[in-house]
Amino acid sequence: MRIVSGIQPTGNLHLGNYLGAIRNWVQMQDAMAEGSQCLFFLADLHAISMPHVPAQLHAATLEMAAALVACGIDPERSILFNQAQVPAHAELQWLLNGTARMGWLSRMTQFKDKSGKNREGASVALFTYPVLQAADVLLYQATHVPVGEDQKQHLELARDVAQKFNNDFCAEDAPVFTLPEPIIPPEAARIMSLRDGTAKMSKSDPSDMARINLTDDADTIMQKVRKARTDPEPLPSELAGLEGRPEAANLVGIYAVMAGTGREAVLRDFGGQGFGAFKPALGELLVAKLAPINQRFTELKADREALDAILARGALRAHEIARPTLNAAYKALGLVRGR
Ligand code: TYM
Repeated sequence: MRIVSGIQPTGNLHLGNYLGAIRNWVQMQDAMAEGSQCLFFLADLHAISMPHVPAQLHAATLEMAAALVACGIDPERSILFNQAQVPAHAELQWLLNGTARMGWLSRMTQFKDKSGKNREGASVALFTYPVLQAADVLLYQATHVPVGEDQKQHLELARDVAQKFNNDFCAEDAPVFTLPEPIIPPEAARIMSLRDGTAKMSKSDPSDMARINLTDDADTIMQKVRKARTDPEPLPSELAGLEGRPEAANLVGIYAVMAGTGREAVLRDFGGQGFGAFKPALGELLVAKLAPINQRFTELKADREALDAILARGALRAHEIARPTLNAAYKALGLVRGR
């Protein structure tokens, strides 16, 4: 197994990232069999697809590295790096631009969402973003890619690109690329905003009250949960009673994943009770589970030299793994390179 996944170093790591993806990264790392490998990276090249402040991106990249280590990514067992230190990502993206089709990219919902009404003003990078994401995983022959539901479409595109490249340029018994499988946690595929149960929790939401950041202190977490939007009904005792109640379903889902139980068990305990009782219990659970991460994060982020060293070493290791695949892609395309 080769597990590969990434996160954009824009803004804070929030509960959606943590439950939808990072927790899975850590679990997969910890369950790794001999001969398997995990590569996790900061998608700083993706971050320039939207307007950004260079100095902030630099700081955010180091901070996100600290956050991942605080969540349990072990840079000894996993390869942790940022894309910008491994030029093979950008190189392979260009090679794959010849295979990806305009029509495929035009159907990407993230491009439609992020460009909004101003498509003409969107960056070219935002449009070709999914091709870089395909390069990210294909470069390492990833077999499994742990992500949240919102990245599923990008992963399908990566498979399409790999398949077309293999068909067009490789002998049937010698494909260059492995088709990666997305791994999406069924119970936390989509953590929703605390202000709107129909929108995903996101770092681009202008309201900080919509998300729990892993760096929020206990008071902030309690306040955000207390103010989370809900409806006036008490919690149901059965799952069916959550239908048509997106905010209630989201909070129950978060509780269930954080407590490591099912949603049924949460409803058995809280069914019939109002949010006045449930919200403080959820807030306390979040504070208890996130406090150790928060503390480790605060210690780690101060040590910039150690973070630089982790990323530099990760980049070297990643580069070694990437090289044969990148060379094979150049060769398959008939591109002449010096020795
Ligand atoms: P990003 O930085 O937006 O998010 C990182 C991971 O967190 C997941 N996630 C969520 N899961 C559940 N509920 C939510 N509300 C929620 N919000 C975010 C995302 O699905 C993701 O797994 N394009 C990617 C980064 C990337 C990447 C890759 C991922 C670049 N190259 C290659 C996998 C493989 C992104 O912007 O994720």
